[in-house]
Amino acid sequence: MKKHLKSMMIAAGVILVFAVVLAGCATQSSSPTSAPTQPPAKPTTAVPTVAPTNTSVPEPGLSGNPVRGGLLYDEWWVVVGADEPSSDQPLWKTQSTNTRSGADTWRCKECHGWDYKGVDGAYGSGSHMTGFAGIFTAAQDKSAVELLAILKGSANADHDFSKVMDEQSLIDLALFMDQTLLDPATLLKSDNTSTGEAGPGLAKFAEICLFCHGPQGNAINFGNLDELEFIGHLAEDNPWEFIHKVRYGQPGTVMPSGILLNWSDQEIADLLAHAQTLTKEPMVSGGGQLYDEWWDVIGVEAPAGDQPLWASQTTNTRTGADTWRCKECHGWDYKGAEGAYGSGSHQTGFAGILSASSMASEDLTAWLNGQKNPDHDFSQYLDETAINALITFVQKEMKDVSTIVNADGSIIGGDPARGQRVFEGTCAKCHGADGKAMNFGNAEEPEFVGTIAVENPWEFIHKVSFGQPGTFMPSGIALGYTEETFRDLLAYARTLPVK
Ligand code: HEC
Ligand code: HEC
Ligand code: HEC
Ligand code: HEC
Repeated sequence: MKKHLKSMMIAAGVILVFAVVLAGCATQSSSPTSAPTQPPAKPTTAVPTVAPTNTSVPEPGLSGNPVRGGLLYDEWWVVVGADEPSSDQPLWKTQSTNTRSGADTWRCKECHGWDYKGVDGAYGSGSHMTGFAGIFTAAQDKSAVELLAILKGSANADHDFSKVMDEQSLIDLALFMDQTLLDPATLLKSDNTSTGEAGPGLAKFAEICLFCHGPQGNAINFGNLDELEFIGHLAEDNPWEFIHKVRYGQPGTVMPSGILLNWSDQEIADLLAHAQTLTKEPMVSGGGQLYDEWWDVIGVEAPAGDQPLWASQTTNTRTGADTWRCKECHGWDYKGAEGAYGSGSHQTGFAGILSASSMASEDLTAWLNGQKNPDHDFSQYLDETAINALITFVQKEMKDVSTIVNADGSIIGGDPARGQRVFEGTCAKCHGADGKAMNFGNAEEPEFVGTIAVENPWEFIHKVSFGQPGTFMPSGIALGYTEETFRDLLAYARTLPVK
């Protein structure tokens, strides 16, 4: 839910940086065939080089962007920028086996499946089963014009999506079905492992996916703290979804589309074969994001009122949610009163926690559940998984960064040219080449990547190491960044515009 909100918030930014993404992808790729010749901004020319998997020629008059159609099939409201539907799709009540409700019931994929085969495919059993038919046969037999009519309720008034989507979106959906549908079974063996080869898949992965998902595919967690979901999980558990997302991209994000990059079915199969070898283990515990803003990570409301210890200081005049963030009392540099929060508006006088990294797990638990100090009790909010993640963070992941940043905020060394390559390979895809595609502040007081890098290098290192709570920003640690990478990145990010 939270993630979707954030995706929608950045949708505008995504459009801005889309051209950048493809430019970036093209430079990462040495293969001439994978560089798109046309920018995707003009819908009618978006897929000039795609070989349609079905040979029917699109009707004159229907022109649009079938790749966008594939994203609409996944989660149309994220793509069109509409509110998430709150009631059930009218057809939903005609089945009872799938007990989801609300927005999910409006996703084309929820009724027709990631394999487009509905009840005859993967959704023929399990919690997603509805009994509804697939679209694969219709997509082959019917024209785009007929498919468009079905989306407007020609066959069943309850299947009218023209009330929730504009005409162009419906056309894009019809073209998606008519021109680009691939039977994922053709890439899968009977045990649902890929028919492709992991070797070439690894090369493809390293060319593109690695920059956001990390070498092991675990830099972005699609699940949550209690139930991790990395590329390795999805590739094994739901290869149909994997194939769809890799071909069309992920709605509301800048994840590239394999179709736009002109990848062959063989290349998709190879990628899947590699993805099916990736780890299901996390590279970071998630504790770093909890330290930053724990309620965003676990998806609850921030506690009301001030944290009880807050009353024991008067210098930091913030109130409410802020007072519950670990970082607000212990600092982005983990040094509390001995570090950057030793003066200025964040000053509390509270101690740092760097030396707690050698503390035994039992003692750290006792700190977090109030046994050491009843006013330092987070156990009513944080379950065992979250407490354990924080313990791992304190013991293993929290680092003294005084070898990267001096006490006065100046930085030590770093090669901006090397930093620029890292920035353009990864960060620029979401934040834009100048780091300004998303504003973390507001119109009057803008805050961009460059602003944070200059004003708060400790926060920069923390956020880039662990990712931004409640969003899909990858973890730099899981991307394989070393101390050297952080130096280089900071050196470059500090040259970006701050306003
Ligand atoms: C709530 C479930 C549901 C959702 C959501 C849904 N459909 Fe359907 N769809 C159906 C049902 C039920 C049928 C009728 C199947 C039949 O003929 O028995 C159908 C029929 C179709 C057909 C015609 C199939 C044929 O064989 O004639 C197409 C094409 C189609 N849907 C596409 C879509 C697309 C694209 C979306 C997303 C915009 C979508 N559907 C969303 C339930 C759904
Ligand atoms: C520019 C960054 C970027 C690149 C490059 C990228 N992805 Fe993604 N990918 C994302 C984001 C962001 C998400 C959304 C994560 C979320 O919703 O939590 C995502 C989601 C996914 C998902 C769906 C997860 C789910 O369950 O919803 C899969 C599968 C995936 N990516 C695979 C790949 C593969 C394979 C490649 C390389 C071909 C790739 N990605 C390249 C950013 C990227
Ligand atoms: C409102 C301010 C505040 C917040 C929020 C806060 N702490 Fe503390 N923390 C303190 C104070 C003050 C102490 C020392 C208390 C004492 O000496 O009794 C402390 C002590 C600790 C200690 C023991 C340090 C040592 O070396 O003995 C650890 C570890 C710790 N906090 C971690 C956390 C974590 C993790 C979070 C977030 C879940 C957090 N704290 C949130 C104020 C805070
Ligand atoms: C897949 C997209 C994605 C990638 C890649 C990405 N970020 Fe982010 N980043 C986000 C999102 C989303 C936010 C949250 C924005 C918000 O809260 O408004 C964010 C937030 C941030 C923030 C913190 C803003 C704050 O709240 O103070 C910083 C700093 C940042 N990113 C830097 C980077 C750097 C540096 C890189 C490259 C190493 C990077 N990001 C890569 C999506 C991404």
